[in-house]
Amino acid sequence: MSMKNRRYPFVQLLVVSAMAWMPGLLMAHGKATGIVKERMQLMKTMGKQMRTIGLMAKGKIPFSAETVGNRAEKIRLSSAKIQALFPEGSLHKPTEALPVIWEQWDQFLSLAKQLEQEAETLEKVAVQGDEQTTLAQFTKLGETCSGCHTDFREKDE
Ligand code: HEC
Repeated sequence: MSMKNRRYPFVQLLVVSAMAWMPGLLMAHGKATGIVKERMQLMKTMGKQMRTIGLMAKGKIPFSAETVGNRAEKIRLSSAKIQALFPEGSLHKPTEALPVIWEQWDQFLSLAKQLEQEAETLEKVAVQGDEQTTLAQFTKLGETCSGCHTDFREKDE
């Protein structure tokens, strides 16, 4: 460590903490920051995972029970994080979350829980390897996504 750093440890601390913010700023999802950005990214990632299975359902890529199980597991793990990503009143731009989330918090949480359960069921069904049953459960999982979006997310797309 240089002499300078030892004499001005607080300056070093300031520089380090300023830098800690930078990757977050550079990777900003549009203009989203903080927890809004985090949950948008979590949702987007789940969207990608669903899309992969959706391509199988449409016959655009070959069915793979293993891939479905893997994506379902990721969605299950993500759904367990939803609750913590919606602290009360976290509505800064460009969020599409609706204030009604916190008026109907129990309902919101039960939909997050339902997502976790449907994803877990998809994992179990995929292990058995039957394409039709697996894709039927995939549809149920997808309905849970849109069920929550219908009530709790702004409609602008
Ligand atoms: C418990 C409610 C809930 C469930 C379940 C849910 N979402 Fe969301 N989702 C939201 C809310 C609320 C937003 C808006 C978040 C924001 O803009 O701050 C959102 C936003 C999104 C977005 C847009 C993200 C962006 O970049 O703007 C995508 C994509 C998405 N969800 C996909 C999914 C998928 C796929 C599933 C199911 C696997 C799912 N969601 C399940 C509540 C939910």
